[in-house]
Amino acid sequence: MEISKQKNFNEPPLSYWMDSTPQPEYPILLEDIEVDIAIIGGGFVGISTAYLLNQQGLKVAILEADHILQGTTGHTTAKITSQHGLIYSKIKSQMSEEFARQYADANESAIRMIEKIAQENNIECDYVPQSAYDYTLDDNYVDKISQEVKVASSLGIKATYLEEIPLPFPIKAAVRFDNQAQFHPRKFLLPLAEKITSNGGKIFEQSRIVDIEEDSKYLLITKHGKKVTAEKVIIASHYPCYNKPALYFARIYPERSYVVAIKAKETYPGGMYITAEEPGRSLRSQVSNHGELILVGGEHHKTGQGEDTVKHYEALIDYANDTFTVEDIVYRWSTQDCMTLDDLPYVGHFTSQTPNMYIATGFGKWGMTSSIVSAMLLKDLIVKGENPWQDVYNPSRKTVLASTKNFVVENLNVAQNLIEGKTQPPKHNIDVNTTCTHMGCELNWNSAEKTWDCPCHGSRFTYEGDIVEGPAVNPLSADNDVNTIQKLISEDF
Ligand SMILES: Cc1cc2nc3c(=O)[nH]c(=O)nc-3n(C[C@H](O)[C@H](O)[C@H](O)COP(=O)(O)OP(=O)(O)OC[C@H]3O[C@@H](n4cnc5c(N)ncnc54)[C@H](O)[C@@H]3O)c2cc1C
Ligand code: FES
Repeated sequence: MEISKQKNFNEPPLSYWMDSTPQPEYPILLEDIEVDIAIIGGGFVGISTAYLLNQQGLKVAILEADHILQGTTGHTTAKITSQHGLIYSKIKSQMSEEFARQYADANESAIRMIEKIAQENNIECDYVPQSAYDYTLDDNYVDKISQEVKVASSLGIKATYLEEIPLPFPIKAAVRFDNQAQFHPRKFLLPLAEKITSNGGKIFEQSRIVDIEEDSKYLLITKHGKKVTAEKVIIASHYPCYNKPALYFARIYPERSYVVAIKAKETYPGGMYITAEEPGRSLRSQVSNHGELILVGGEHHKTGQGEDTVKHYEALIDYANDTFTVEDIVYRWSTQDCMTLDDLPYVGHFTSQTPNMYIATGFGKWGMTSSIVSAMLLKDLIVKGENPWQDVYNPSRKTVLASTKNFVVENLNVAQNLIEGKTQPPKHNIDVNTTCTHMGCELNWNSAEKTWDCPCHGSRFTYEGDIVEGPAVNPLSADNDVNTIQKLISEDF
């Protein structure tokens, strides 16, 4: 008998990572301070970068809008892999073999680095070595998979072509990467946050940065009006909370995906899996005090454009029921990640004109290795002035800048269409203005999470108008004061 799709849907979503770890409290910034490096955002990027810089003897402070590790990092599926879809043949054919080599080296190094940090600090984080499989059920993808095996192998990755995988259904083809891993992201990162503060670093929570001023040093202003003076700034806020002068809003779009954690009658066969084609489906297991959980993920869509979002959970439950004998649906959650124009992250100098401002974003749902790559890369840029992977991650690389203007125009059309077709919350009257405080797009109602979601750059607000996630830095109110997209574009282009 199939498990009911409606199960647990009356409760708010909750990730296993959040439910199985305590939430520490760090202080609010209540006085002006000066540091060497200010890091905006306490997610995987912020914590791991602060950890590496702190080890170099630099004075760092993390400024977190809410509580650390509750953003995308607290709602991921936490596969640690250099297998980011069929990325290597794409980078090689559309960019260069050298870029593909840098990307492979960076991500394979990141897997080893996570293991090394966990071992050195005796961190129990459910780290388990695993193979990663990208499989297809579609004849049209067989050649692509075979090509990926060739390119990835030529870059030094242990990649194997397969016609069968351990899952209980036939496939057309798959690529397996060996020596990959899975873990519990909060069990890994919460102890690192403790290490940062015990080694003299600072972490401030509920201290959203609402403005950045530039003088001989940077001056960051918190929502409480306190000032952080810093020689260098790292924007680790997931979607960049600072717009100018780089126009990141014109070259990133946020995409949401969904996860259900089930208990099945069958023992999970091991491995981490993802489909090469649509619909995207992802699988991994996780030990828990409920027994073995199977995390079933997928159902992506641009944030604010998911229509009836409950349907996405239902589709994953259908897939779980087709694949396993589902005995219980223990958790469900969803989150969003930043996607880029050429599918590669932006990590490095914020622009070519800002030697002391850095960014790490656009991980395309592969942020476990990408966050550690960012930490290693930014640490090197700050300490040594260079890093062997800086070209492929360079936010100002040519492939990105060439497509930026088309992307802005395309996204403007999307936003205008959505103003007309806006979805409303059922039955209730609302007394906030549902125009996004970031740049003025009209918000859409997310029925599964009960939030107002922005179709333009992914800001999300509670029913009452409080910020769930940025880039917006102001809550909704009856009379929002917004910068319009049109205003920003006419100033910048
Ligand atoms: C459904 C899903 C599954 C995924 N699964 C995987 C996976 O299996 N493997 C993998 O490699 N990757 C995966 N990812 C991607 C990965 O989870 C993310 O790329 C990564 O967690 C992003 O980390 P972050 O530090 O950039 O962002 P976050 O964790 O979101 O941290 C950003 C922080 O910045 C704070 N902030 C925002 N604005 C401000 C401001 N103005 N002032 C101060 N603080 C601010 C936020 O509150 C937040 O705490 C997945 C993504 C999704 C959506
Ligand atoms: S997030 Fe940019 S307009 Fe809403």
